[in-house]
Amino acid sequence: MIKLSVNVNKIATIRNARGNNVPNLLNVALDIEKFGAEGITVHPRPDERHIRYSDVYDLSKRITTEFNIEGYPNQKFIDLVLEVKPHQVTLVPDPPHVLTSNAGWKIKENKELLNEVLAEFSKAGIRTALFMEPLVFDVEQVEFVNVDRIELYTEAYASNYANKENAIKPFIESALIASKLGVGINAGHDLSLDNLAYFKQNIPNLLEVSIGHALISDSLYFGLEKTIELYLKELE
Ligand code: PXP
Repeated sequence: MIKLSVNVNKIATIRNARGNNVPNLLNVALDIEKFGAEGITVHPRPDERHIRYSDVYDLSKRITTEFNIEGYPNQKFIDLVLEVKPHQVTLVPDPPHVLTSNAGWKIKENKELLNEVLAEFSKAGIRTALFMEPLVFDVEQVEFVNVDRIELYTEAYASNYANKENAIKPFIESALIASKLGVGINAGHDLSLDNLAYFKQNIPNLLEVSIGHALISDSLYFGLEKTIELYLKELE
């Protein structure tokens, strides 16, 4: 069974628009769990424009499914993760002010940083993942870092979905390389009710998807409970 982890950054974005506590992020996250999602993902950014560091602490005390924290490993992020000890940390190479994650790691250029940080998280018993583009050279470099999983950056798949047979090819190739290297496979970014089933059907050894933008947008029409049911169905 492939796990659905719901990224709740968008809920925090709506809340922050008014400066009060509506919607209540914690309650929404607990409802997402109640409605059947198997994980909650947060991506705190240095400017805290959506998820705040305090949200991460609050959620970590109440979440009962898998908690996944994503982000760039600056010292503040590393300290947060080591204190909260989520089930999984996903490292993303995004600079502070990008709108959303827009690239995967170049392991060759960042090997020392990554190995140092990954070792710290592993020592603390936290499963590690690296956000990666489906590029053969980059994924092959996973051999040189001590990581548990990769998260395939699926934006290119989603934006080329009109030609889905071609769009999925590099992702299948990357998944096969990762599996051969003994690394687990997560995926995320721009996955939706339109493109999720085909991705799931074609990617070998897919363990988890993290979905935010499309899922929260769909819930405007279907409601959160029904929307989660629809996404879980795609993953069956
Ligand atoms: N994975 C990573 C690393 C992300 O940064 C994001 C967006 O914050 C997602 C997955 C989820 O992408 P989306 O919101 O498009 O579903």
